[in-house]
Amino acid sequence: MPQTKPQPVQYLADYRPYPFTLAETRLDVTLAPRDTRVRAELDLVPALTGAARDLVLDGGAGLRLLALTIDGVAPSEDHVTRTDERLTIHAAALPRGPFTLATEVAIDPADNTAFEGLYLSGGIFCTQCEAEGFRHITFYPDRPDVMTTFRVTVRSDLPVLLSNGNPVASGDGWAEWHDPWPKPCYLFALVAGDLVAVSDRFTTRSGRPVDLNVWVRPGDQDRAGFAMESLIKSMKWDEEVYGREYDLDVFNIVAVEDFNMGAMENKGLNIFNSKLVLASPETATDTDYERIEAVIAHEYFHNWTGNRITCRDWFQLCLKEGLTVFRDQQFTSDLRSAAVKRVEDVQTLRARQFREDQGPLAHPPRPDRYEEINNFYTATVYEKGAEVIGMLKTLVGDEGYRRALDLYFDRHDGDAATIEDWLKVFEDATGRDLSQFSRWYTDAGTPILEMSETWQDGTLTLTFAQSTPPTPGQPDKPARVIPIAVGLIGPNGDEVVPTRILEMTEARQSFAFDGLGARPVASVLRGFSAPVMVRRDLDDATRAFLLAHDSDPFARWEAGRELALSALTELAQGRDAGADYVEAIGALAADGSADPAFRALCLNLPGEEEIAIRLAAQGITPDPDAIHDARGNLARRMTLTHQELLSDIYDDMAVTGPYSPDADAAARRSLRIASLGLLGRIDGGERAEVLFGIAGNMTERMAALAVLLRLGQGDAALQVLLDQFGGNRLVMDKWFSIQVMAAPPQNAARIARDLAARDDFDWKNPNRFRALLGGLAANHAGFHAADGSGYDFTADWLIRMDAANPQIAARMSTAFETWPRYDAERRAHARAALERIASLEGLSRNTREMVSRMIAAGR
Ligand code: TRP
Ligand code: ZN
Repeated sequence: MPQTKPQPVQYLADYRPYPFTLAETRLDVTLAPRDTRVRAELDLVPALTGAARDLVLDGGAGLRLLALTIDGVAPSEDHVTRTDERLTIHAAALPRGPFTLATEVAIDPADNTAFEGLYLSGGIFCTQCEAEGFRHITFYPDRPDVMTTFRVTVRSDLPVLLSNGNPVASGDGWAEWHDPWPKPCYLFALVAGDLVAVSDRFTTRSGRPVDLNVWVRPGDQDRAGFAMESLIKSMKWDEEVYGREYDLDVFNIVAVEDFNMGAMENKGLNIFNSKLVLASPETATDTDYERIEAVIAHEYFHNWTGNRITCRDWFQLCLKEGLTVFRDQQFTSDLRSAAVKRVEDVQTLRARQFREDQGPLAHPPRPDRYEEINNFYTATVYEKGAEVIGMLKTLVGDEGYRRALDLYFDRHDGDAATIEDWLKVFEDATGRDLSQFSRWYTDAGTPILEMSETWQDGTLTLTFAQSTPPTPGQPDKPARVIPIAVGLIGPNGDEVVPTRILEMTEARQSFAFDGLGARPVASVLRGFSAPVMVRRDLDDATRAFLLAHDSDPFARWEAGRELALSALTELAQGRDAGADYVEAIGALAADGSADPAFRALCLNLPGEEEIAIRLAAQGITPDPDAIHDARGNLARRMTLTHQELLSDIYDDMAVTGPYSPDADAAARRSLRIASLGLLGRIDGGERAEVLFGIAGNMTERMAALAVLLRLGQGDAALQVLLDQFGGNRLVMDKWFSIQVMAAPPQNAARIARDLAARDDFDWKNPNRFRALLGGLAANHAGFHAADGSGYDFTADWLIRMDAANPQIAARMSTAFETWPRYDAERRAHARAALERIASLEGLSRNTREMVSRMIAAGR
């Protein structure tokens, strides 16, 4: 429910340990949609030192307190204070030694539209407790450094009753669970529903048998197999690569339809957004399959990085999220193409994290203040957090990384740890001083790395200058250590100096390579060795040379990307450009020896948002319409020049036989649909029309539909999908989003309004809401329409959503995070929309924090 009272800012510096420890938590939950009873017993032990302290428990206004005792006796009323957010039992009413606090509360899951705490989703009771949802279930010290074992009894007539840990006993209408691993309450979970399981079994390498279940709604079993396969692969991989085994007798995954994020790593009972579990060739795309595999792995990997070792406080969120993202990225690289995965990750990082860093919401991977923690589950904490670990690994080497991680698991198992603990482990394992490195955790902003070079007497000298633009609250930033991976390529295209890591530690620094024959071309920031922006004066011919010859696949792709971006930024400013790009890209597309997925990545032009980021970084005000046209024009030119080649690729890459989501088949399809997208610019949508009609898989059908929609010819195809899949929520989410995403920009907001008026726009469902609003936000020129229609539509719905689900409203408000970069007219519209939201009475803390940070930046 919306919180009306603004909560004071929380500061990292204010951390104090909780003055009690918890020996055990026992819960007895009797489920009923409107009147669930939660009885809790907390075995508390006062800290040994210091004066007697009040017992402060978190607990929202939604808890109806029915009973409260200490060691079986109710404290007198004047020893208990209750506010909207807390329950305090005064020290005077507490024993000096261990005692048991027992409470009983009544809650209303059916009324919970915020999907935080215990709620109902399509008849299934489920919970979401990270970050601070447990306080909506019972009174409790809701902070990650208070850990204990849980014993839970669930009572309900529903057939499947689940909680964390191992099953202990069950009977008619009840089940008891015990989790032997101490955990903070944000990892608590409970599920009850009419569910069916896809089941399997895994034996850990030390011989522990584990029952695996993926629980779904009856009828969805045939779409849960891929999730199960992904789980088994993840369990194996973590044993082989990190030496980490699973530690309970069961591992349960439950898919639910209403979920605020992707998935949640509750101990032994992961809860997933159904879109990250359910997949069949007819309903899911290759990208969906890849995401399912990665997120199943991500949540599973949290069992060690997050659960066995958790965070001391929420400022340390990137300790578990950055590391777990890094691990799931490694997993995907091992299972699929490492080169393709790296390019995909960098693309996401740039589109989301660089964008965040460039705007009013910029913050470091470890922030030191927040108002609402849910607003900090960001690309910076997750994706940049992972990049920072990648740099650490580069600096200490694979061996050093392995030693440090072994030490981390060894030293901190069972702890609620900090970033300082994490860095100390690396220092102790490798002997390296990481004090300068730690700035990556505390300083916001994307460093800009300016490079120049000189050539004399067989010596190539590379000079780098680093600077980081100011971000909110951080005007000046000292130099950071930046690992720059560099290789040198001779004039004939052969590598003359293989990859070497240059460790930059100063604001400005030179590195010399001597004893060279002819002047080589430097390949810089190979593998994207640091999350920085490189500025380098390089002519298009040299970029084309790198695109043709670089042995590092990332750098090769990057050379093509830079060619494309330099052409697109020129074109967007009304200047002609692009000839070199069009020529060079043809050679690459024709290279049949290269991985088709890699060729597809090279054929896909940078998105409009990425072009805007580049222009903004150059101090140029991006014009969304000009960017849209520039991109369309360059794509058309590419296609006209390489028409035959693209047409051959389109035909050659057809995959025959039954659908398989494996990397090779997906790679072929990705190249095929990249060609389709380009050919659609000149063939009037002919191929797309045919493909939509005959394709048996959703990957090709969606790609074809996008082409048709862009041409304004999608109506028939939309109707076909509606007839076929009107009852399938996940497909209908795609149906909603693609229409706005692929709409011609001038129509986008109107189409969004029409869709929002449909009966099946079930806006309280986060996936459906995100499909429509996120679809519009992803249509760069549509969202930023000069008349403000995109902003107004979005603001209307943020206001509506905020009253039901503040987390979703606040998250979606980031559609506005780039508003200060546009022209005066757009800024005026955006500011008006943001101020309209800000002026709302009863606005949630979540949305209020986001909107006020965004407005402040425009002042
Ligand atoms: N910890 C989860 C993950 O990274 C994500 C998460 C955080 C979450 N808060 C949430 C999921 C709220 C759902 C709702 O995997
Ligand atoms: Zn996570």
